[in-house]
Amino acid sequence: MTAPSISPLTAPAPAAGDFDSAALEAGVDRILALFRTLHDTGALPPVLSQVAPGTVASQLPLQAPSAAESLETILSDVERIIVPGITHWHHPSFFGYFANSSSVPSLLGEFLTSGLNANAMLWVTSPAATELEQRVLQWLWTAMGLPDVESWFGIITDTASMSTLLAIAAAREAAGYDVRRKGLAGRADVPVLRVYCSEQTHSSIDKACITLGIGTNNVVKIPVDGDFRMRVDALESAMAADRAAGMRPLAVVATIGTTSTTSVDPVPAIADLCAREKVWLHVDAAYAGVMGIAPEFRWALAGVDRADSMVTNPHKWLFTTMDCSAFWTRHQDVLRSAFSLVAEYLVTARDQQVVNYMDYGVQLGRRFRALKLWMVMRAFGTDGLASRLRDHCEMAREFAAQVESHPDWMLSAPIPFSLVCFRYAPADMSDTDADAHNARILSAVNATGRAFLSHTKLHGRFVLRLAIGNILTQREHLELAWTELQHAASGA
Ligand SMILES: Cc1ncc(COP(=O)(O)O)c(C=O)c1O
Repeated sequence: MTAPSISPLTAPAPAAGDFDSAALEAGVDRILALFRTLHDTGALPPVLSQVAPGTVASQLPLQAPSAAESLETILSDVERIIVPGITHWHHPSFFGYFANSSSVPSLLGEFLTSGLNANAMLWVTSPAATELEQRVLQWLWTAMGLPDVESWFGIITDTASMSTLLAIAAAREAAGYDVRRKGLAGRADVPVLRVYCSEQTHSSIDKACITLGIGTNNVVKIPVDGDFRMRVDALESAMAADRAAGMRPLAVVATIGTTSTTSVDPVPAIADLCAREKVWLHVDAAYAGVMGIAPEFRWALAGVDRADSMVTNPHKWLFTTMDCSAFWTRHQDVLRSAFSLVAEYLVTARDQQVVNYMDYGVQLGRRFRALKLWMVMRAFGTDGLASRLRDHCEMAREFAAQVESHPDWMLSAPIPFSLVCFRYAPADMSDTDADAHNARILSAVNATGRAFLSHTKLHGRFVLRLAIGNILTQREHLELAWTELQHAASGA
């Protein structure tokens, strides 16, 4: 049988096989121009995008163009259509949620990652990507003041949600039910598996348990003390009650820096209990873990050395562009046996000698994220990182002092790091009216585009959250936010 003949392409091949480097340089200039607007206090764009729902979509054609368009036209459309629809996480007055912070070294690293376009799935598919990932995670572990780095295996994932999924999958593997082969459904030999975390824990723990077939009914939310920390006595009772009912405690997730208030669970006492109960301990330090880089904050990481796994997100507070989540476990072999599945076409001659990161997670193809983290750690140095993190905590304390000294405002939670939870609560306003008023304050301030905050509920009450984590944030931005808040509170 003869092969069908293929007609030659009618379009002329571009000279360099793609677009020329002048197009790249012009594009980079435009990216830099956008980036510069966030450094120029006089020309800051609104932090919260001011577009109404549907505005962006209405400017986008329903179908892709059939004829090629120039990069110049496309980049103009980025500025005209896309940028107005961006909420600027990199803005110095972004105080919502936790920052997804960035920096020049990280931006360059991300650009290089794209330029090199390496796939870090196997060692052989880019040895540098694998070996740098291993080394940079050793650096970060040690920089946070954590001991015994040789015993910990590190892997970079996209998000803390994925890192926690890996942790609970490993815990399930360690429990020995061979779930990867037999599944969970219809098995009389597997008890109900239980995962414990505090009622302040991030929703990613529920999501992991949804994905892994454990079920949200089996995520046991342990009550917290007056400072929003997991109560170990309640954890112990919950485990004992579950065992008595024939269920199997599988894992505990302790948090260092909870999402609503950045409270720190008592990890050393939880580690003692987990050791006695032979239960996997995962530490979610997505936001606050990196604070260990400053020695005076290492108290917060006490007990992590006795955990089974831990996550922190350089993309939250370590000036590393989205996305970059650092995950470590003391049980490399368990994580590997939870996920390794080597198809014939992925076998390499080096498999016994090297780490193939595809063996330690869900993904096959993997981005080369270690590069930007390496560039950040080198370009700032651990001293430079520590001083910036410290400064953020100091700014948070100064902001909190202003709130506290004002008769109509109150702090709503302790401030261990760089998040302030507070609320407008004049003596003559009922709690319910204050809830509604604080929600109005939040909307009004965010609508100005001059600052962006988010909120949470504590003890059932609406509370404002101001989280500092952006490398561009200076005291003047906090002063402006405080002015806007007072202005909005007065209803002016
Ligand atoms: C304590 C904590 N854990 C996990 C997460 C989830 O992080 P990610 O968006 O990387 O999945 C967050 C997000 O803010 C968080 O605060």
